[in-house]
Amino acid sequence: MDKVRIGIVGTGYAGNLHGRIYARESRAEISALYDIVPERAEKTAKTIGGKVCGSREELIDNCDAVIVCAPNRTHKDIAIDAVNAGKHVFCEKPFSIGIEDAGTLRDRANASANTVFQVGHNRRFAPVYATLKELLSADTAHSAHIKMNRGELKNPVWTGDVNVTGGFLYETTIHLFDMMRFQFGEIAELVAYGSQHEYPELDEFSVIFKFKSGFHCTFASSSDASWHFPFERIEVFCHHRTIMTEEMERLFDSQGMDPNFETKSFHMLEKEEKWGYVQEDRAFLDAIIDGKPVPVTADDGFKSVELVESVYNAIKSGERVTF
Ligand SMILES: NC(=O)c1ccc[n+]([C@@H]2O[C@H](COP(=O)([O-])OP(=O)(O)OC[C@H]3O[C@@H](n4cnc5c(N)ncnc54)[C@H](O)[C@@H]3O)[C@@H](O)[C@H]2O)c1
Repeated sequence: MDKVRIGIVGTGYAGNLHGRIYARESRAEISALYDIVPERAEKTAKTIGGKVCGSREELIDNCDAVIVCAPNRTHKDIAIDAVNAGKHVFCEKPFSIGIEDAGTLRDRANASANTVFQVGHNRRFAPVYATLKELLSADTAHSAHIKMNRGELKNPVWTGDVNVTGGFLYETTIHLFDMMRFQFGEIAELVAYGSQHEYPELDEFSVIFKFKSGFHCTFASSSDASWHFPFERIEVFCHHRTIMTEEMERLFDSQGMDPNFETKSFHMLEKEEKWGYVQEDRAFLDAIIDGKPVPVTADDGFKSVELVESVYNAIKSGERVTF
């Protein structure tokens, strides 16, 4: 294969983000764009090229790989159509909404042996989280305190519409649910509390997770807190050691019993690299062209949805969920 021909469905924020990255890649070319608002695809084509298609079918006919960047609830149908047409798929998070759809998409993706299916959990590639994983691989983490907030559910407008997003946990928190598995392994059980304040859905969450390894953590997530820095943070506690991340910007590592700490800062990187987007898009091409393992699989996507659903279920039922 000369160059992977990239087709992007949904040319809003995420579609343009991935589009700009692939447009710079020597191993890819932007071949097709489709958005239900055609002017958006036309505007994107002016900066990164690509044929503006009048339908999803036309887009599928004009590419090797489909990048799914339309809003959350559309992911399953768009991704399944692409897999059925024999295309490689990069599906933005969330993998899909609800266990049933997630299971259908996972099974379909896994049944397609010759194509790549990758899920857009970009944070796994962000240098701050890759560094955390490296440090933890040489130590034993005991417990952690994690938070992930948003300042609002108003921008883009559909982020506050549960019919589109599936709920705040699907829109935002799912990023760090996937991150917990990436850093700490599989989850054994959870208890969760939630409440509703500013938006017509549950918008505040407190969860305690226990992992199969015995590791445990607390997790707080609010959708109407503020954009005060850092809106996401992981504090990990090891033997006389605390490692703390602040968004994708920096990591503090404090070891021993005196109060000194080391800082690793990533603030000089471009956002596309600092947040892991460049690396995840390269990994997708590596899997397609060189047959390298897919770093975030359909099974990972399914598990992130399973965690979201389990937290909602635990809140509804008031009961502990075990896996
Ligand atoms: N991984 C990340 O960090 C990250 C960041 C932003 C968004 N996302 C995800 O990407 C997806 C898109 O988010 P966004 O911020 O780009 O939203 P956006 O509103 O900026 O763009 C979405 C685009 O999809 C188009 N669209 C809607 N329905 C469509 C359909 N059925 N077919 C084709 N196009 C359709 C809209 O017209 C719009 O142009 C969401 O699922 C979101 O969760 C992920």
